[in-house]
This record gives sequence, C-alpha cells and structure tokens, in this order.
Amino acid sequence: MQIEFIGSSEKFINTLILPVWQDGQLSEDAKDICKAHKGLITQMVEGDEAFTGKAGEVLWASLSVDGKAVKLLLVGLGKKDELTRFSLEKTGGTIAATLQTRKISEARLVIGQTLKADDIAALANGYLLRSYNFDKYKKSEDKKAMQVLTIACGNKAQATKKAFAPLKALTEGVHHARDLANEPPNALNPETFAKRITEMMKPLGVKVKIVDHKALAKIGAGAILGVGQGSETPPCFAIMEYVGAGKPTKKKGWDTALVGKGITFDTGGYSLKPPGSQIDMKFDMCGAAAVVGAMAAIGARKDKINVVGIVALAENMVSSKAYRVNDIITSLSGKTIEVLNTDAEGRLVLADALTYIQQEYNPGKMIDLATLTGAAMVALGSEYGAVYSTDDALYETAATAAKLTGEKVWRMPLDDIFDTEMKGEVADLRNIGKNRWGGSCTAAAFLKQFIDEDRTWMHMDIAGTPYSSKASALSPAGGNGYGVRLVVEMLTA
Ligand code: BES
Ligand code: MG
Ligand code: ZN
Repeated sequence: MQIEFIGSSEKFINTLILPVWQDGQLSEDAKDICKAHKGLITQMVEGDEAFTGKAGEVLWASLSVDGKAVKLLLVGLGKKDELTRFSLEKTGGTIAATLQTRKISEARLVIGQTLKADDIAALANGYLLRSYNFDKYKKSEDKKAMQVLTIACGNKAQATKKAFAPLKALTEGVHHARDLANEPPNALNPETFAKRITEMMKPLGVKVKIVDHKALAKIGAGAILGVGQGSETPPCFAIMEYVGAGKPTKKKGWDTALVGKGITFDTGGYSLKPPGSQIDMKFDMCGAAAVVGAMAAIGARKDKINVVGIVALAENMVSSKAYRVNDIITSLSGKTIEVLNTDAEGRLVLADALTYIQQEYNPGKMIDLATLTGAAMVALGSEYGAVYSTDDALYETAATAAKLTGEKVWRMPLDDIFDTEMKGEVADLRNIGKNRWGGSCTAAAFLKQFIDEDRTWMHMDIAGTPYSSKASALSPAGGNGYGVRLVVEMLTA
C-alpha cells in the first residue's frame, strides 16, 4: 500500500475515484469533472437508486477520457455536517476494500476542493489502515498486489501531507501490533517476541530492556515463572522506555506505564482448553501487541511525554515441568497464590508485571491491556473492551478517545465484593473466583491486589476485541490492533 499526495495532474489514469455527498449531491471535485463530461456523472448517480452517497456506499461506472475508458468509482461521504475523523477513516477504508476486491493496483482520488487538509488526511489514514495485509506465509501468486493511491489535493497537498504524518506513524504502530498478533505461535514465542521488540524500537528512540528468566528468578517473580515453566521457551519481561519530556526519575515517577499480557499461546495448561477453544489462542498476546504498537507510534511521533511499556511474555503449555493445579506460587509482590486453574494464567503474569513497573518506575498512571477472560466477551461481545478504573477522569479520557478512534469501551465495576471471591484458603489469594459468575470482574479484583494504594490504574479486559474472523471497516480479518490508537490518543490528547 502506498499513498501519494499530489496537486493535480493530467496524466492518464485507469481508475478515478470521486466523492459524492449524501442525497446524491456531487462533491465540488466531482462537479468539475461532471461538467467536462456534459452532466454524465449526475445522470449516473440519479439513475442508480441504490447509491445515495451515504458514507460507505460505492458505485462503479465508467467514463471516456481522451478516447480511453476510465473506471470511475463514486464513493459516499455522508452528510457534510456529520463528518468526523472516524467517518472519514471509514470512507478511506471502503475505498481500500473496494479496490482490493477489484484487484486494482493504481487509482486516483480527486478531493482537494471537497475536503479540508485534516479531513483528507483522516480519509487517507483509513485507507492505509484497511489496506493492511498479512500474507508473508502465502505463495507469491496469492499475495495481494501492492496498491498505489494518489490523492489529488489541489493547493492543499502540502498541508495534507503534514496532517497525515502523525496519523501515519500511529497507523504504523497499529500495523506492528497486527503483525505480532497474526504471527503463528511456532514463530512468535517469548524469546522471538522480545527480539522483535528490540529490533523494532531501535530506529524509534525507544530504549528496550529485557528481564530474562534468570533475572526473573533472582528478583522472585514466581507468578510469571510459574506460568512459563511448562514451555521450552522461558518467560521474560520486555520493557520499553520512551522519554519525550525530560528524563524522569524513579522518585518523580514516569507519567504513564503501559502493561500488556503477552501469552504467545494459551493451551490452558493442565486445565486444558478444549480443542475449539484453543483455536485463536495465538492471539492471547494482543494486549502486549497493543502496548508495543503504542510505544512504536509514540516513539515515531516524538510525542512530548514520558511513557514506559512492559509486556509479560510467556507460553502456557502442558509438559512434565508445567505448573499444576494446587501449586502455591509466590509472586514478586510477596503475596502467595494458590493455582486452582492453570488457564487463569494472564492475571498471574500481569501481577508480576504490575508489581515490577510500580517498584521500578513509580508511574503516575498505569494502563494494562489483556485478553484476560472469556467472561468479558460473554458480557460485552467482540467490539467493546471491558474497562475498569480506579479513577473517573482516566476512564473519561478513555471514553473520549474511543469516540474518536472507534475502539469502543464500556466501564465495569471494581468493587470490594469481588475481592472476597479471590481470597485464598491456604495461600493469600486464589487465581479463580469461588463461583463462576462475574469472571471479568473477579479477574480485575485479582489484579487490584497488586496495585499500590492511591495509584491511578485502568485495566482493559480486551478478550473479544483485538482479532476477528471477519473484516471490519478499518481492518481485514485477523489481528486488528485494537488498543493502539485508543491508548496513544488518551496519552496525547
Ligand atoms: N486467554 C484466556 C481468555 C480468553 C478467552 C481470551 C477467549 C480470548 C478468548 C484466559 O487465559 C483464560 O483462559 N481465562 C479463563 C479464566 C477462567 C479459568 C477463570 C476463561 O476465561 O475461561
Ligand atoms: Mg488461559
Ligand atoms: Zn490466556
């Protein structure tokens, strides 16, 4: 995928894209071209009852230019007074999906008179998001062809380019997250994940530190070590430091810490998942992928904030060395946990990561993202992330960002009644609730046991959101990078 912003050019093109406002009103750019073709485009739009110019609608037609046939794609923009960044992105996404289906490798969108520079940039960004592909494991004939979209912006080309740069950096972060999510578990394990983070962050000015299993043992991070001990590939933390606002100290603290669950495959362990439930458990690292994608975007954009990211990387496997049910493990915090279900592993690796980052970085606020419970999907389906927050204002920031980016969130309760569910009989804590109800709430209550008093914290149980078997407006099927845009928007708004 490639996007170029140009002024206007007369060069012959195969495919021309023109925007149309709702109720079939030609856009300013379409009007011009319509005039040159004796009203033909108006006739096409009026002649097609299904196409009304609503956002997301398209109409294929053709024109004759200098005696040659040109494919014409009319795209709906919706109502002029209802344009939002997200609606424009969706229009860009529609263009990408439509061109891909038709296997069109080069097209020109003429839009300079119709939209402002910021709005053109948003549309271009939607195009970029939707044209992502993960086909590195396919034979070359089956790979999707490279698509080039040139956008004729008239005298707004420079301004559009400028507005597009930070959006593009953000989208590249989303694409990093998708790449990691889509990678199969035989290629992406805790070690290769950590290596990829190190490589990725090098050019972005984000410093990476790996806390390997030996170092984890030394500090006593028994929870993540317990989860990872059944795997050939040992667990680790990868830590990403980005300094954009003057070097923070531990005493003063970092503005924000991002924490991600990175289970590169979740078999369930001895509390084995049935085969159907194992499918897609390569995506159990999507919280970590979102943290990495957000850090990459923030680094590329050089945002003026200090952020530290930590991902807890482990593989939850079955082997003679694997942790068992009834094992009692000692977490980094010193709290002991009786394992009553080896499939409730995400909260264990997160417990140590949350403790570590508070101890070492003293963050002003902390946001974790985790594909934590099937119960979050039962409650909210696959588009809403379940959000828990100790702080109303922090939640509001998330809700506002969500409206902008389209990554939906819904607030859930942190309540002492769930804490009692997690109290242990033989250890300080148990890793599952005493009954099966409110599974996402009890998981959040478990994590809360590892949060310092007065620390501002938001937990996102994103079990259902970061991947899908169906394409959406801004993503093809597979990993979609949910969380990257939301978190970056929250931190930079
Ligand atoms: N990774 C799963 C949660 C999950 C399930 C994510 C489905 C995405 C789709 C997590 O590790 C898990 O297995 N949770 C258990 C917790 C239970 C044992 C308390 C669950 O949800 O069943
Ligand atoms: Mg599990
Ligand atoms: Zn899991």
